[in-house]
Amino acid sequence: MLILGIESSCDETSAAVVEDGRTIHSLIIASQTELHARYHGVVPEVASRAHVEQILPVVREALEQAHVEPKAAAGTPGSAVQPIPPGSPLRRRLDGVAVTNRPGLSGSLAVGLTFAKAYAYAAGLPFVAVDHMHAHAYAPHLASGGDELTYPYVVLLVSGGHTMIAVSRGFAELEVLGTTIDDACGEAYDKISVFLGEGYPGGPVIDRLAATGDPRSARFPQPKLNRADNRFDMSFSGLKTAVVHQMDRFWREGYPRTRENVAAAFQDAAVGMLMNRVENAVRATGIYRIAAGGGVAANSELRRRLGALEVDGRPVESVLPPVELCVDNGAMVAGLGYHMLAAGERSGWDTGVAARVAAFRGG
Ligand code: KG4
Ligand code: ZN
Repeated sequence: MLILGIESSCDETSAAVVEDGRTIHSLIIASQTELHARYHGVVPEVASRAHVEQILPVVREALEQAHVEPKAAAGTPGSAVQPIPPGSPLRRRLDGVAVTNRPGLSGSLAVGLTFAKAYAYAAGLPFVAVDHMHAHAYAPHLASGGDELTYPYVVLLVSGGHTMIAVSRGFAELEVLGTTIDDACGEAYDKISVFLGEGYPGGPVIDRLAATGDPRSARFPQPKLNRADNRFDMSFSGLKTAVVHQMDRFWREGYPRTRENVAAAFQDAAVGMLMNRVENAVRATGIYRIAAGGGVAANSELRRRLGALEVDGRPVESVLPPVELCVDNGAMVAGLGYHMLAAGERSGWDTGVAARVAAFRGG
């Protein structure tokens, strides 16, 4: 089955064509980073307008690259999509459309959802709305290169909008263990970057600066979230305050206060928080398999530590998708959508968006 997946929940407009939930025939991601940079973060109104402008060219490009002929537009004069000639082995038709409809920015979600519904209706295709976090948790399957990633696995989802640790038990079965109780991890990276006089998004900048800094330069505090009911939760606002307002208190003598050292000490504390939660989750569930997703999963230090993880002396198998499958993308939506559609699931034409999902509190 060939599925078109559409993602527009935050500031990436993305479309992909994926076969049988596994083989990615095309993946287009149009990022809006430059539009939001001057505001140091995503501005919802700016994001939804940009989605409106990008959605059509992005979907067209995805279909074109996958040699898929959109039924409704076949042969339309002036269309950017040129049908592959009849009889060509490359000529394919879609079997369904999947789109993210929750959680995320309402206006942004509405653009993708409305487009997907209209497209599916016009083309006579079945359509299914999927949960963004379920889609992130599915992404490792696309990265496993044909090997079956078996359930269950612990999954760490960290981006500018969400920070969550969960157990994935099936295609749309996510058992949330913990979430951030304040800022998202990526948000903390973005704020520290602004503090250091660097731009947005901050993750890649801090990652680069930290590479030549010394993580021992400061001993930033870790939040005390060790009670049984919050041992999987995370917090980043205390760390952010410590870096921005209380540097003197935590800086260690003898270390020059360079941007590289600040970045390295901050990153050590932020990644340390995530790793501590991952270790708690592996130990508590006895599941020695971990996957990660979200923009922060591109972080080199996090990837290094997840890749080398041992809990109680036992190695933990880790599946870290390539960066384009960690960030918001249409392939994870198409991949998950395939399994839902193949199981006979359909969403109604009256399906709406939801900014929040109760199970993902704080996420
Ligand atoms: O998943 P994503 O592209 O968009 C959403 O927020 O949903 O994630 C973007 C976030 C930003 O906060 C960015 O600073 C962070 O991911 N990020 C990183 C890295 N690359 C991107 N954080 C740490 N290290 C990185 N290398
Ligand atoms: Zn996301």
